[in-house]
Amino acid sequence: MAHPSIVILTGAGISAESGLGTFRDEGGLWAQHRIEDVATPEGFARNPQLVVDFYNTRRAQAHEAVPNAGHAALARLQAEHKGEVLLVTQNVDSLHEKAGSRDVVHMHGALNSALCGACDHRWEAPLKMKVGEACPRCDKPTARPDIVWFGEMPYYMDRIEMALARADIFAAIGTSGNVYPAAGFVQMAAHVGARTVEMNLDPSETVALFEETRPGKASVTVPEWVGDILAE
Ligand code: APR
Repeated sequence: MAHPSIVILTGAGISAESGLGTFRDEGGLWAQHRIEDVATPEGFARNPQLVVDFYNTRRAQAHEAVPNAGHAALARLQAEHKGEVLLVTQNVDSLHEKAGSRDVVHMHGALNSALCGACDHRWEAPLKMKVGEACPRCDKPTARPDIVWFGEMPYYMDRIEMALARADIFAAIGTSGNVYPAAGFVQMAAHVGARTVEMNLDPSETVALFEETRPGKASVTVPEWVGDILAE
């Protein structure tokens, strides 16, 4: 295939070596906080301060974090690969952008974005958000973190599904395959005959669905994989 079109899905594991916690590893974020308290609309309605504090902490950590060789390798692939590359991330940090990636599709939202719960307006989030902040457009006190919570629809699904329908290669990096629809992308790609590869520290829940697996740390496996793709 001359210039294969590539869809990449990243998860928290690609940011682990940059010091940002994953969710389901030992001692991960979901061992420290209850999902229903900090990652659902009901939790936000019940205790908005707890939720705003949770994302303020993660936003401050992400602000300080530095991309690692895994992020850099994907930016290189986007810059040098002659075919299309769609980089989809479940992560809400900006490490792909800090590494030079462009047009990153944040399907679970982003820490550096704020959302108005009343009019859907989005704006750049301050480092520390406050409860009841007014929306710059409709002026209602309904600002919230622009994060896709459990029970809400992930963003950019049309664009992602169109890319998967024409993918020649699908790579999942640093994701445990626990959360749908992202965990189902490998099946959609395999269905259209794409080559599928998982790069993960431990086998994911969906490892059996991948043609190829490259176990290990993303800072090692992703640069190797990118080198192989660019040498094809
Ligand atoms: N290199 C590669 N993979 C790693 C590394 C590393 N250095 N460290 C951890 N991993 C792998 C783990 O083996 C695990 O399979 O990263 C994966 C992280 O899985 P999760 O913590 O479940 O994170 P993720 O898959 O991104 O979660 C998906 O769940 O809670 C929601 O919205 C949240 O976007 C998140 C979604």
